[in-house]
Amino acid sequence: MSSLSREYSPTADESLRRLSGLFPADFNFGTATAAYQIEGAAHEDGRGESIWDRFSGTPGKTFEGHTGEVACDHYHRYLDDIDLMSRLGVNSYRLSIAWPRILPNGTGTVNQKGLDFYNRLIDALLERSIEPYVTLHHWDLPQALEDRGGWYSRDTAEAFGEFAAIVLGALGDRVHRWITVNEPWVVAWIGHGEGRHAPGKADGPTGAIKAGHHLLLAHARAVDAVRSLSPKSRVGITLDMSPVFPFTDSAEDARAATLMDATKNRWFLEPVLWAQYPTDIPAYLDLLPEGAGDDMSAIAAPTDFVGVNYYSRAIVGLDPATQMPQVKHLENVERTGSGWEVYADGLRDLLIRLQEEYRVPSLLVTENGAAYAGGPDGSGHVRDGKRIDYLAKHLNAAAEAIDRGAKLDGYFVWSLLDNFEWASGYDDNTRFGIVHVDFDTQDRTIKDSGHWYSQLITTARPSA
Ligand code: FCB
Repeated sequence: MSSLSREYSPTADESLRRLSGLFPADFNFGTATAAYQIEGAAHEDGRGESIWDRFSGTPGKTFEGHTGEVACDHYHRYLDDIDLMSRLGVNSYRLSIAWPRILPNGTGTVNQKGLDFYNRLIDALLERSIEPYVTLHHWDLPQALEDRGGWYSRDTAEAFGEFAAIVLGALGDRVHRWITVNEPWVVAWIGHGEGRHAPGKADGPTGAIKAGHHLLLAHARAVDAVRSLSPKSRVGITLDMSPVFPFTDSAEDARAATLMDATKNRWFLEPVLWAQYPTDIPAYLDLLPEGAGDDMSAIAAPTDFVGVNYYSRAIVGLDPATQMPQVKHLENVERTGSGWEVYADGLRDLLIRLQEEYRVPSLLVTENGAAYAGGPDGSGHVRDGKRIDYLAKHLNAAAEAIDRGAKLDGYFVWSLLDNFEWASGYDDNTRFGIVHVDFDTQDRTIKDSGHWYSQLITTARPSA
């Protein structure tokens, strides 16, 4: 074994051996990142501007005005980062493609240098037997398309289809796992309903529902591109999901939980699986763009898996003024550094629900992880026991779901590296990496959680 595994002693954690025995021998253990959060090189090799460049460059939008201009400088350091993954022993890696690197104006002329970067990246992963899972859209929409209406315009979904076809044409011979869109709920509601994310529109449900439909249409166009250009590939969408609990046992709060479940968990899932939006909130159906009904069969074209991003559960009560759900904060529960409640049973329950209620043929946990502050101590170690604890609990929950029949094929820790955490920038409390990044020097240090994950993989897949 590499020196890496000797640094973290599994005997210090008896549960590791037990945990590793709970997964099938061919289970995919990976890590995940997203282009804008790690690549940097925002102005290099012909890359165009994205909505996240524009948003984060606007005063007051992100923590201390941080941007992804340099981020983890992964664009230049990708080989080192892949070596890190090799040392960790992960057998799969979820990355995303920056649309403005490939099509600086959103449509039209292809920037070959952008494609070259991803060609090199994919080849380097494959040389080290790491299977790439490629997300086509992880939020960095070209600003040029935003200027033409962004996700409010149907044309953006069509442009995404063209972008997907270009990427599939370039990488589809070597990449066989595709994720169309990451977390459309966040883009729709946080980016267009509340405006806390790019493009910063606070248009409420009117904005969220419209943008959301076009994101689903974009998903449909990308599925089509995968099917026609890389027939051997498997494709799915990644949804952020949270089991929802009522704040009190009142009938009002129970209703709030049902409504929240409809908008947060079912709104994007049911169109993809069943070709229909939930009908719980009729007023939202009225906000769909004209002709939406005609898109539903394309949106529900068969896919191969559903990717789930899970971090925590949601607790809601009914807001008396609006009669809509309102997020509540529980006291005295365990929370991560970024304040999110640690609630591992939620992952188990979610996966079981997707199996039992929705009969999803294959599931992937495309993101799960925890943010905690902290860097190397005097001896150069990053002692992030709380993250190990979080990961162990959630992997255990995932294994319970497998045991109860959920067809879970892989798990991707968010994230490989500490990175640009969107509106939270590089706030120390939002470090999600199993590898620490010093943003001044770009030094990488594998955290104890990285050593632990590595040991788990080695134990779970002894012959791999
Ligand atoms: C998810 C995002 C991912 C990361 C994690 C913490 O919502 O998909 O990029 O920011 O949250």
